[in-house]
Amino acid sequence: MNVIAANGARIPAIGLGTMTLMDGVCVEAVKTALALGYRHIDTAERYRNEAAVGEGIAQGLRAAGLKREDIFVTTKVYHDKLAAADFQKSFDESLQLLKLPFVDLLLIHWPSPKVPLKETLGVLCKARRDGRARHIGVANFTISLLDQATALASEPLVTNQIEVHPFLDQSKVLAACRKYGLSVTAYCPLARGKVPGNEVLRRIADAHGKSSSQIALRHLVQQGIIPIPRTADPGHLAANLAVFDFTLSAAEMAEIDKLKRPDGRVVNPPHAPQWDA
Ligand SMILES: NC(=O)c1ccc[n+]([C@@H]2O[C@H](COP(=O)([O-])OP(=O)(O)OC[C@H]3O[C@@H](n4cnc5c(N)ncnc54)[C@H](OP(=O)(O)O)[C@@H]3O)[C@@H](O)[C@H]2O)c1
Repeated sequence: MNVIAANGARIPAIGLGTMTLMDGVCVEAVKTALALGYRHIDTAERYRNEAAVGEGIAQGLRAAGLKREDIFVTTKVYHDKLAAADFQKSFDESLQLLKLPFVDLLLIHWPSPKVPLKETLGVLCKARRDGRARHIGVANFTISLLDQATALASEPLVTNQIEVHPFLDQSKVLAACRKYGLSVTAYCPLARGKVPGNEVLRRIADAHGKSSSQIALRHLVQQGIIPIPRTADPGHLAANLAVFDFTLSAAEMAEIDKLKRPDGRVVNPPHAPQWDA
């Protein structure tokens, strides 16, 4: 598995998203993913599936003869738990549910104007110093929040997990992440189902003998962005990993770049920050 290096972390270049995967479906998806070669699993306290993710990891490691250190596990603390004591409690519970002594990456799931960023970063950095989070980072942070977080954090931040896919222009926040040495983890890399129906992606896919989803994922990995597509379908799991055996031309990359549109954002809840335009 290719890796992306960022501020001391080595992050597998593609991961499995697990939002909405529950119970036995989640266990099987994680286990199958590890058998297929996935080495990066993304969950969150908010997904209410950490116990199933942990079980899938335990079964998957055993079945594939892997060690804990062979894989990269991310979890997140939700925006209503960013006060120091709440954050600590949420992370303690995540580790218990996952049945892991540490995660590879711990993220602030969403920023919150209700708790000073300095307070949350203090406890996030402490998790890294304690070794319970090998690396730390943020999600859904804007340029101004990245400016603040990188100035306040006493430990390196290694990723900003944000929505990235062909239909959304994230060029400004991507540039800010690069400026600070953060990797970008792309959530909704398939625009939650909007990728497969796109004609331009389909045409490029046909030219490479790939699917539209594989073209969208390749467009990200070719920029050094780490996609975390979600699926429990074994065929889709395998297909989403098979994006390292072909290259998109500069003209194809540019054509995909042109698919950005003003209404392209998929995830925009009421607690979202003021996004960079
Ligand atoms: N930090 C955040 O705030 C945040 C927000 C949203 C998501 N996330 C993370 O990002 C992950 C991915 O985002 P997402 O789940 O919202 O959306 P997504 O990965 O863009 O889309 C998931 C959809 O794509 C389909 N799909 C997957 N592989 C496919 C393939 N090869 N061909 C055709 N369809 C395919 C899946 O259907 P099938 O089940 O039929 O395959 C599913 O309906 C989440 O699971 C979560 O871990 C983070």
